[in-house]
Amino acid sequence: MYRTHTCGELRIDKKNETVTLAGWVQTVRKFGSITFVDLRDRYGITQLLFNESLNGLLDANPLGREFVLQATGKVNERSNKNLNIPTGEIEVAVTEFKVLNKSAVPPFTIQDDTDGGDDLRMKYRYLDLRRNAVKRNLELRYAVNRSTRNYLHENNFMDIETPFLIKSTPEGARDFVVPSRMNGGQFYALPQSPQTFKQLLMVSGYDRYYQIVKCFRDEDLRADRQPEFTQIDCEMAFVEQEDILQMFEGLVKRIFKDVKNIDYNEVVKRITWEEAMWNYGNDKPDIRFGLEIANLKFPKHAFPTREALNPNQNKAGNAEHAALESDFAVFNDAETVLAIAIPGCSEYTRKQTDELVEWVKRPQIGMKGLVFIKCNADGTFKSSVDKFYSEDKLKAIAEATNAKAGDLILILAGAEERTRKATSDLRMEMATRLGLRKNDEFKLLWVLDFPLFEYAEEENRWVARHHPFTSPKPDQIEVMINNNPVIEDASKYLEHPYSNIKANAYDMVLNGNEIGGGSIRIFQRELQEKMFAALGMTEEEANHKFGFLLGAFEYGAPPHGGLAFGFDRLCAILGGSESIRDFIAFPKNNSGRDVMLDAPSTIDDKQLKELQIKLNLNL
Ligand code: AMO
Repeated sequence: MYRTHTCGELRIDKKNETVTLAGWVQTVRKFGSITFVDLRDRYGITQLLFNESLNGLLDANPLGREFVLQATGKVNERSNKNLNIPTGEIEVAVTEFKVLNKSAVPPFTIQDDTDGGDDLRMKYRYLDLRRNAVKRNLELRYAVNRSTRNYLHENNFMDIETPFLIKSTPEGARDFVVPSRMNGGQFYALPQSPQTFKQLLMVSGYDRYYQIVKCFRDEDLRADRQPEFTQIDCEMAFVEQEDILQMFEGLVKRIFKDVKNIDYNEVVKRITWEEAMWNYGNDKPDIRFGLEIANLKFPKHAFPTREALNPNQNKAGNAEHAALESDFAVFNDAETVLAIAIPGCSEYTRKQTDELVEWVKRPQIGMKGLVFIKCNADGTFKSSVDKFYSEDKLKAIAEATNAKAGDLILILAGAEERTRKATSDLRMEMATRLGLRKNDEFKLLWVLDFPLFEYAEEENRWVARHHPFTSPKPDQIEVMINNNPVIEDASKYLEHPYSNIKANAYDMVLNGNEIGGGSIRIFQRELQEKMFAALGMTEEEANHKFGFLLGAFEYGAPPHGGLAFGFDRLCAILGGSESIRDFIAFPKNNSGRDVMLDAPSTIDDKQLKELQIKLNLNL
């Protein structure tokens, strides 16, 4: 037997018992004739005491960091207790020990605050995984996994595996492809998600399916994206949107309870995609704080239902709020003018406002400048546009922005898309500066009614915003069927009726991150064919790519819908981080490389020949 206990479990009640531990040497401290060793395993750290009788042995075989050690001895009460760790009241007075394996000097210290940089830690990921911080992340991941499986099992979901070697049908990101040796010149693709399989399972009658499953997408990477990542993928038959929303907010609430012991009792807020864009400038708003955007001016076609959302707007052309009227060319020439009132910041100094101006001018934000209005506590105003706006006008702008005395109004103006994104970024930046984005606060949000289509200008065609299997809102099916998708003048795509069609699609957002998304699906062959046609596919192409699905829809496909959560993202946010890498045992770096394996890599000529592949890197 290698051990009687783990390094995390001994307490004072085991005093005088003889125990055997096995683990890794964290530190060796020599004091005169005695030596202390901290022994570590997955469960914790226990102090070992080597007294002078073992000195000779230690001198002959010095212990180094990360040596694998087995030690037997008696549990002692420590004279110098360390109440910061659970085992800190005891130590094991070693009588016998054995080095089970030596270790080279590790390239970085295996501690919470390690001296290893990112690249080094990735190269030696197996050592990095010994660190507490990383271990805690993987433990959290496993807890989320368990909680998910329990909840879904209790709700009659069945875990069914789907294949990884499938057909390439890129609609969204690029596929990773795998050459087939047995079918020369042909390729499989790795699934971007099990989307069509889970729909087929609905046709097969498995009315509640789930899988915690790897997905593969060849797309540009960011902190919240990996080329292979994991989804909690779910599908249900005989459901409407409401059934799905309830079932899966139930899942997330259960995970909150099981993993974080949080009772998330509040109603999960729901907003439409348009409201999200309108009030927050992005489709995954962080609603832990307000700082909502005031729309002072907007282009005619940006938001079709804008009047309903903001009755103050006039309806002509690029409508602007009456308060903006002046000779100020920046606002007059802009498509959009957006403002945010920042509470309690009216006393920002010149230096602070200058710094914000510089911030919006950074290339990532890309604005030419920032207008500010200070709403002084005494009811007066001071602004960077005093030349163009009288005190009364500034007051009117403040009212339109819902600003109060003591607030600082920040205003951005310019082209719609860029300005809205910049305002959204500024909102997040100000919230960060004001400490409003707390890691231990969680706010869920459903964003509903996404547009069905997006216009891909490079390809000059409509693409499905979610995916081609998403159903349009029932009352908008006619608009899809009765309008020709072809656009003569690409710059006017916002005027095409397709721009206004909404989908039965929903995203779940947690603290400003899209943690899941899904839709109610098309389940009739005819409508699915029309959708493929709307996306510019010929009948032949549609049959070549998705004939299996169209065929299945002829054999009694039930109404169905579902969603998938980004499992890595959910874990990262619950763990208080925005980087999913920290929550994946063996992640890829930002160039999609596994620096530990040194993959991807070339393969030898024999392999290439078997696959009948000849490389031409100069293409
Ligand atoms: P979607 O493409 O929205 O939907 O993906 C679902 C969720 O997966 C996460 N996600 C990612 N996480 C890490 N790295 C990536 N590269 C990455 N891409 C996506 C996000 C996202 O919300 N089949 C549909 C779901 C459905 O309709 O049922 C799908 O895959 O958190």
